[in-house]
Amino acid sequence: MATIGVITGDGVGPEVVREGLAVLSDVAGLDNFRPELVEFDLGGERYLRTGEVLPDSVLEDLRGCDAIYLGAVGHPGVAPGILEKGILLRLRFEFHQFINLRPVRLFPGVETPIKGKGPDEIDMVVVRENNEDLYVGAGGFTRKGTSEEVAIQTSINTRAGVERCLRYAFELARSRGAVRPFRGLSPSELDRGLVGLVTMVAKTNVLTFAHDLWMRAFNEVSLDYPDVKTDYNHVDACCMRMVVAPERFDVIATTNMFGDIITDLGAVLQGGMGLAASGNLNPERTAPSMFEPVHGSAPDIAGKGIANPIAALLSLGMMLDHLQAPRGAEAIRTAVAKVLAAGRPRTPDLGGSASTVEVGQAVRRALEETLR
Ligand code: NAI
Ligand code: MG
Repeated sequence: MATIGVITGDGVGPEVVREGLAVLSDVAGLDNFRPELVEFDLGGERYLRTGEVLPDSVLEDLRGCDAIYLGAVGHPGVAPGILEKGILLRLRFEFHQFINLRPVRLFPGVETPIKGKGPDEIDMVVVRENNEDLYVGAGGFTRKGTSEEVAIQTSINTRAGVERCLRYAFELARSRGAVRPFRGLSPSELDRGLVGLVTMVAKTNVLTFAHDLWMRAFNEVSLDYPDVKTDYNHVDACCMRMVVAPERFDVIATTNMFGDIITDLGAVLQGGMGLAASGNLNPERTAPSMFEPVHGSAPDIAGKGIANPIAALLSLGMMLDHLQAPRGAEAIRTAVAKVLAAGRPRTPDLGGSASTVEVGQAVRRALEETLR
């Protein structure tokens, strides 16, 4: 049995998580996996009602779960940062979810705005460091609100934190290569036994302390992975290349902030925010990992029943992978691929007019056909 903490959250969060939970109950049997769902009332509504963001007792209850499935947090009636920092970032830090894993994969049948590129060219994974950098909340103000105000926000980079992130990326490139060697390798590289590529993305030419540490760690860690090719891009060049030559990427390893930014670009490459999934991983399994769509609470479409549930469904698949339920995970991806390849039903973000529920039901029908 596995205990899943469910945080539906705000806006479209509850709408997409509902579809995810329906799919979960359909696939659980495949791996003899018995999920016990525990709902946690967290998000903007609770904050506005009670003033509570994430009480310590709730944090401890969440710690007892095997994994967390989250919709989104963010509420138009709550100042920016309170919920995002108080719930999302706090859970990522407290539970040592030091990897944020974000696959960028274009499914056949989905249009990408990148001219001349298709599913063969757009298939990479971003490994975003998730516990350090500018996101730790180190900083402060002096003379706040005056014309002499100073605001400081410090990027924290520890050798241990950087190294474990890079090792994860190399391991991932190796395991992807074991299934299918990276298509960007030349015949002579394949002959030499290379299977994958890790591209480190940073800004070593300007951030000459923090990213010097990253580069030294990258060079040293790479010595342990002679079967994985290495490359380096400055983050600005990476953005350009993701658009003009996405096929050059296999696994990207990057900092917390740069990973946050380039994965929105990644989401566009793969067909939009409605399709981008993520996992906040504690690879050491000393606390639960957390799985969530990359998108936020989408207040502009919340309550209309038209949010695309696929990002949430693919995030559920990542959760099942993590919980060692690979059949369920694969079944979800296959069913999603089937619905996307069919071209309908689709929610408005993908040019259709279907509802969240209709897309969820189509995925469940595709699942049924696969499982029959
Ligand atoms: P957002 O991701 O919520 O929305 C950006 C755009 O994408 C909007 O036009 C929205 O309609 C569209 N979109 C998002 N999800 C969609 C889906 N499933 N189907 C179809 N279209 C979708 O980002 P935004 O507007 O910057 O932030 C809204 C709130 O969410 C803010 O409070 C923000 O802080 C929070 N947020 C929370 C995140 C999380 O919980 N992990 C991540 C990003 C933002
Ligand atoms: Mg983001």
